[in-house]
Amino acid sequence: MPGAPLPTVISANAISRRVRELGAEISTAYADREPVLALVLHGAFIFAADLARALTTAHQVESLALASYDGRESSGEVQVIKDLGCDISGRDVLIVEDIVDTGRTVSAALELLEYRGPRSIEVVTLLDKPSRRVVDVTPRWVGFEIEDIFVVGYGLDLDGRYRGLPYIANADALDLNGAP
Ligand code: IMP
Repeated sequence: MPGAPLPTVISANAISRRVRELGAEISTAYADREPVLALVLHGAFIFAADLARALTTAHQVESLALASYDGRESSGEVQVIKDLGCDISGRDVLIVEDIVDTGRTVSAALELLEYRGPRSIEVVTLLDKPSRRVVDVTPRWVGFEIEDIFVVGYGLDLDGRYRGLPYIANADALDLNGAP
């Protein structure tokens, strides 16, 4: 990892405790069902991997990729880069997000997937920045609410860097290329 360690916002231990709690709550909610975890690439890949292992009930893991960000700012338009690999009609779908910021990405994912006739569709996000919301969307499960700072680590990036940090760090001190 380049440069000095970034300021910690949420420690690896706190993340792991919270992911285990979410896993237990979600397992209860989907008891006797087999939800499709629709993980939103790339940011949610680490959260989804840990969440899947915290679930005690059967589930299927699928992914989709949407793009709306360039550096730190949402472009306002969301494009589908990669779609799910299965039919979700009649299925219970759980969208797994890294962070809900303006809400544009998750509401685009909801719109795209609702159209296909799932039995139910819910959202779990590791992080939520409610103060930044532009589109009215409320995830059913939230790991942590955070203030309006740009964060990296545990899957979240700044221009492709820092995804592998095991904790959530404040990246406001970095420049737009992710350099210190
Ligand atoms: P939204 O469409 O504005 O809600 O943004 C959602 C997407 O923007 C997330 O899935 C992330 O990929 C990215 N994003 C938003 N805030 C941050 C942040 O603080 N750090 C890293 N990525 C972010």
